Amino acid sequence: MYKKILVATDGSPFASKAIDVGADIAKRFKSELTLIAVIQHPMNAFGLFGIEELGPEAYTILKRKGDEIIREGKEQLRLHDLTIRSVLEYGNPGDTITHYAKKNDIDLIIVGSHGYGEVMSHMLGSVSDRVNHHAHCSVLIVR
Ligand SMILES: Nc1ncnc2c1ncn2[C@@H]1O[C@H](COP(=O)(O)OP(=O)(O)OP(=O)(O)O)[C@@H](O)[C@H]1O
Ligand SMILES: [Mg+2]
Repeated sequence: MYKKILVATDGSPFASKAIDVGADIAKRFKSELTLIAVIQHPMNAFGLFGIEELGPEAYTILKRKGDEIIREGKEQLRLHDLTIRSVLEYGNPGDTITHYAKKNDIDLIIVGSHGYGEVMSHMLGSVSDRVNHHAHCSVLIVR
């Protein structure tokens, strides 16, 4: 059923849970699993300027953080017998995740219900909410 699964991670415990669920589903369906982390400058929440305009220092710091998030996600998946792809993108996380999914024929996107934001238990985080509303494919929100 799910041939291509995309798991989005911001490195939070919620995303870590989403990664575990992704691994389990990928094993059952023999799916290809891709981890995606999106880096975004905190001053650029609306995506008004490109990464090249941030200057090399900001870029280096953000890239290092993104690489670390991906490394941790892969480490978590190491014991599972799965083929993993990973991608680090720059931009608005919700939009970037849904664009990547469409462009790459993903069948299922998995996100945590929350991330590093202040948790309001009854509400979804803004990234999971945006992915849920805009994705072309099924979305699994892990709680
Ligand atoms: N930058 C990101 N890159 C990849 N995935 C992300 C990113 N940010 C969030 N996610 C995914 O979305 C899930 C929900 O995170 P979200 O950011 O929506 O919640 P939050 O941080 O609690 O709220 P908010 O960011 O709105 O304050 C995470 O568990 C993760 O799966
Ligand atoms: Mg967040």
